[in-house]
Amino acid sequence: MGFREDYRRSRGLPVEQPKRNHLPRYEPHSGRHEAADVTPLPFEAPAPPRNWALHEGHSLDLIQTWPHELDLVVTDPPYAFGGSGTEHAVSATVATVLRETAARLRRGSWMVVLCASSHRSVSYMIEACRGLAEPVRYGFWCKPESRTKVRTPGWGWASVIAVAMRRGAKNRKDLPEPSQLDWVSAPVVTKGRRAQLPVSVADWAVAPFAVPGGTFLDPFAGSGMLPMAAARAGMVAHGFELNPPDGAA
Ligand SMILES: C[S@@+](CC[C@H](N)C(=O)[O-])C[C@H]1O[C@@H](n2cnc3c(N)ncnc32)[C@H](O)[C@@H]1O
Repeated sequence: MGFREDYRRSRGLPVEQPKRNHLPRYEPHSGRHEAADVTPLPFEAPAPPRNWALHEGHSLDLIQTWPHELDLVVTDPPYAFGGSGTEHAVSATVATVLRETAARLRRGSWMVVLCASSHRSVSYMIEACRGLAEPVRYGFWCKPESRTKVRTPGWGWASVIAVAMRRGAKNRKDLPEPSQLDWVSAPVVTKGRRAQLPVSVADWAVAPFAVPGGTFLDPFAGSGMLPMAAARAGMVAHGFELNPPDGAA
């Protein structure tokens, strides 16, 4: 009996009944749910917003009519390095597209190009952009289980070099500095006959340079892993691809 009840009794006032526990009695559940127990889902769950697009076509054609200035380019082209015959044709396309793409970068913006880990391939990509974007920093994607196809003494492992180039002077203070590009290790991912960048590698190559709200382009986008990484980093992302995977374009 509490102080309040004692007081009311001493004054001849009615004593309130102690409040009962209002929680319902625990009934063990039968395990069955009636339809009314279940909160109905909306008829069709809304699709997550897709702020990236894959444009189907030849990147030489598409870049000619591309209407936007670019805030970031990250691309993983066919690994070009000159050569002859069809190899030369591919290399020439890559060089021309890289150059045309670099010309559409805003001044101070970054362009990251993945290359074969050979001096020849890296030089070829850099020379393609000479005078428009200059090399600033290298990073390495190490493929832990893969062996290189190039039979060079001393070089057993396969890796990819990412060259970070910058357009013009370092005159935009609002753009990021690439402090996180040294290396990443991730096994190769293949989908059917198509090799695609692992998500961790795509994020590694894009996130340090991302300009939220800015325009991103990968002119050799494959399955779109780099545009997707740019979209995750808050950019409006586009990719060009000759043979997009089913349903991606
Ligand atoms: C190394 S793969 C890119 C893989 C991509 N990063 C991914 O994660 O799926 C290069 C891509 O460039 C495409 N490609 C080659 N030449 C092209 C061209 N002229 N125009 C557009 N795409 C081209 C190829 O079809 C291939 O998918």
